[in-house]
Amino acid sequence: MQKLVTPQDLAGLDVLVTAGPTREPLDPVRYLSNRSSGKMGYALAKAAALRGARVTLISGPTALVSPPGVEIIQVQTAEQMFQEVIKRAEKTQIIIKAAAVADYRPLDAKEQKIKKQGQEMNIEFTQNRDILAELGRQKGAHQLLVGFAAETNDLVQNAIGKLKRKNVDLLVANDVTQPGAGFDYDTNIVRIFDQNGELTSLPRLDKQQVAWEILNIVVKMFNPLRG
Ligand code: CTP
Ligand code: CA
Repeated sequence: MQKLVTPQDLAGLDVLVTAGPTREPLDPVRYLSNRSSGKMGYALAKAAALRGARVTLISGPTALVSPPGVEIIQVQTAEQMFQEVIKRAEKTQIIIKAAAVADYRPLDAKEQKIKKQGQEMNIEFTQNRDILAELGRQKGAHQLLVGFAAETNDLVQNAIGKLKRKNVDLLVANDVTQPGAGFDYDTNIVRIFDQNGELTSLPRLDKQQVAWEILNIVVKMFNPLRG
């Protein structure tokens, strides 16, 4: 029913969304992860599907159910997410990277459970590949790339830095220290940047509404790229 009253302004387009955290194993029973419920990414996938897109959602572990009409691919680690995203990137017009990807993974994940030993413990980490930066390097002329940034300080400077460094078209930033923004909340407070600076600053909204507003901007930016 909702489809009948929803603008089909993403019809015919392939949209890829990433969501949730990644998990980087330390041993068979432990992992390093990020605080992320996946709600923002799932809301974006749902909204894009309602607006007529063919949506693929590449998701880290969350407690959420897959939105209707969305192809979902479950992953655990940043490296698995990298592989699943990159192999689909070329045929996708709009890529939205809402996932909280772990920046590092344990250098040496143990095959057996690590036993408790001594008072202190050191673990060596190695950096994961940056999926968004790789997408920015490969970006085609008819492709739109949307990144996210969850910040605790210097939001504008950090957001613009990431946007430029990773060659993304839109960057959605939120200050996770604000009540009602990010992590487990059902709401978010975001500021959206493009290559020219800040486009808009949204009030606290339900994540489904935030998704809708982001897609309004995406549609406006993507139309001239359609060729
Ligand atoms: N991202 C990614 N691959 C990574 C790390 C981050 O694709 N290995 C993406 C996230 O999905 C997000 C954007 O990059 O869309 C920004 O993530 P963020 O953690 O805010 O930025 P970083 O570049 O990792 O910088 P830092 O964590 O040092 O602030
Ligand atoms: Ca990071």
